Amino acid sequence: MIVPYRSVLVRRLAILPAALLAFACNQAPEDAPPEAAAPGREEAMGDVHSYARPHEIAVEHLDLDLTVDFDSQQLAGRASLRLDRRSEASQVVLDTKDLEILGVTLDDGAETRWTLGEDEPWLGRALTIDVTPEAEVVHVDYKSSPQATAVQWLEPEQTAGGELPFLFTQSQAILARTWVPCQDTPGVRFTYDATVRVPPELIAVMSASNATERNAEGVYHFEMPQAIPSYLLALAVGDLEFRPMSDRTGVWAEAEIVEKAAWEFADTEDMIVAVEKLYGPYRWGRYDILVLPPSFPFGGMENPRLTFATPTILAGDRSLVSLIAHELAHSWSGNLVTNATWDDFWLNEGFTVYLERRIMEEISGREYSEMLALLGLQDLQASISDLPDEDTHLELDLEGRDPDEGMTDVAYEKGYFFLRMLEETVGRDRFDEFLRQHFDRHAFESMTTAEFVVELEQNLLEGDADLAAEVDAEAWIYGPGLPANVPVVESQAFVQVEGEIEAWRGGREAASLATNGWTTHQWLHFLRGLPEGLGADQLRDLDSAFGFSSSGNSEVLHAWLHHVIRNGYEPGYGALRDFLTGMGRRKFLKPLYERLAETPEGTAMAKEIYAEARGGYHSVSTQTIDEILDWNEGA
Ligand code: BES
Ligand code: ZN
Repeated sequence: MIVPYRSVLVRRLAILPAALLAFACNQAPEDAPPEAAAPGREEAMGDVHSYARPHEIAVEHLDLDLTVDFDSQQLAGRASLRLDRRSEASQVVLDTKDLEILGVTLDDGAETRWTLGEDEPWLGRALTIDVTPEAEVVHVDYKSSPQATAVQWLEPEQTAGGELPFLFTQSQAILARTWVPCQDTPGVRFTYDATVRVPPELIAVMSASNATERNAEGVYHFEMPQAIPSYLLALAVGDLEFRPMSDRTGVWAEAEIVEKAAWEFADTEDMIVAVEKLYGPYRWGRYDILVLPPSFPFGGMENPRLTFATPTILAGDRSLVSLIAHELAHSWSGNLVTNATWDDFWLNEGFTVYLERRIMEEISGREYSEMLALLGLQDLQASISDLPDEDTHLELDLEGRDPDEGMTDVAYEKGYFFLRMLEETVGRDRFDEFLRQHFDRHAFESMTTAEFVVELEQNLLEGDADLAAEVDAEAWIYGPGLPANVPVVESQAFVQVEGEIEAWRGGREAASLATNGWTTHQWLHFLRGLPEGLGADQLRDLDSAFGFSSSGNSEVLHAWLHHVIRNGYEPGYGALRDFLTGMGRRKFLKPLYERLAETPEGTAMAKEIYAEARGGYHSVSTQTIDEILDWNEGA
């Protein structure tokens, strides 16, 4: 059962128009009724993707003691949760999914009554625990299931070393509950400590303070003294090595790739300095990067102090490091100021893309960051034309759906363009000052879209009705598609690419095009700009001139493989199969399987490849690809 908070729509009607109408009616914001200006804390915490009732009792600290068992593929142990009593409530409610609860006790061991609710799709089961008025801590003894969707257990063959197993978790958006009983909502923050016991030949790392040395007993202790939401809980266990890059940055990876990774990410310290200059201090102590085996389903995940990253960004030329800028930027937007619910996801991702591009502008220049913005705009336009209108609003309504459905380019790129429009409207200095204060004022807090609108009104638009009308936040946040005041992005480097595409289409041989010195992003623009229908000799001409099928750059290869599939270009099939079986990053898998599934022959090939590859993918990816291919495992 979903806890019956007032629906998102009702919440929005109650809160928002007051702030927005204040601009539209040329009314000073003070005229808005005071109770309409900001939601109460209780309302702001209404998260339809969690059973928790944090306004009654919230968890403020987690103490984890876990044993990692590779044979049974289970995590087993105890989660002790310290309670922050916010009401007289006599029960605390936690989220769980596929957890086996072995027992629950209070403080120093008193048994207490607990119940597990019905199993709901995505949400799992509410664990409701009776607590006495004095109880400060509940201890939950439990085991995770081998099917826990957050956790991927890798066979040795799936690692670079090939000898030892590996494990990693992916908690965002609502998968933390599959390995830790917790209040699994981004509206609740808690500090944590953990003890993790692993086979002694492996090392454990978490989104917390990490030892950099292996320990003979295989027992690792962690501390995360800054309060975080549950989706940032993360654990990885493997045969890992550490290479420092600067005093506060370093790389974790298997020995086979750790040097390569440290070289690739050498700009990380400069990136931190760049954001600190703009938006205030990095508040998390260290910033390390863990490079995972290729099955990691995302490009990157902003686990605090320890970004998790796919090895597919190790291009060998640092050309894909904007992903590190992105995950680092989450240390401000997302980890410090957090979306209160998954309907507010754009507050995490749109802000982060904005920061990411500001970092890249600082590190690699405006021309570079404009190329990123244009590629982003192309993605956004494609998403907008694919999605139903209501899913192209910045604030979403994901009630009754898997929050994963809201994780589209809209949050990232429409969010980015909204902030960029604000920057261009008020001027960069003023906007930077606003953002810096926003991160300061709301550090270690969660925020709803409604609260952000109030923030924007009070601290940036400041009652200026003309400015508010020019900005038209309402159209961006609660309206579909791209509003008319979307910023213009220009790139001479891309104009040049377009000229070469024209020349090639006009009959010039690929090898004689002026492509010298092109960056990865120019190549991506080139590949995206090619016509859809191409003949085998045209593809051969391109492939032999530029070696796309054997590109070591995952983004370039991915863009090329679209043409391979669309045009049935058989010489590219080997590369396609190797790519789909060699990594599990959903951003690459999804569009390629989708494209294959457009024809009967493609579907047959996709199913054949998937049958081989599926076992190596993380559940985040199999869930998506199962749907595309109508795959029914076990049926
Ligand atoms: N936090 C996201 C990844 C994520 C989003 C995981 C939603 C689960 C649910 C991360 O910061 C991210 O956006 N990663 C992107 C890379 C980025 C450069 C756009 C990715 O993985 O592709
Ligand atoms: Zn992100």
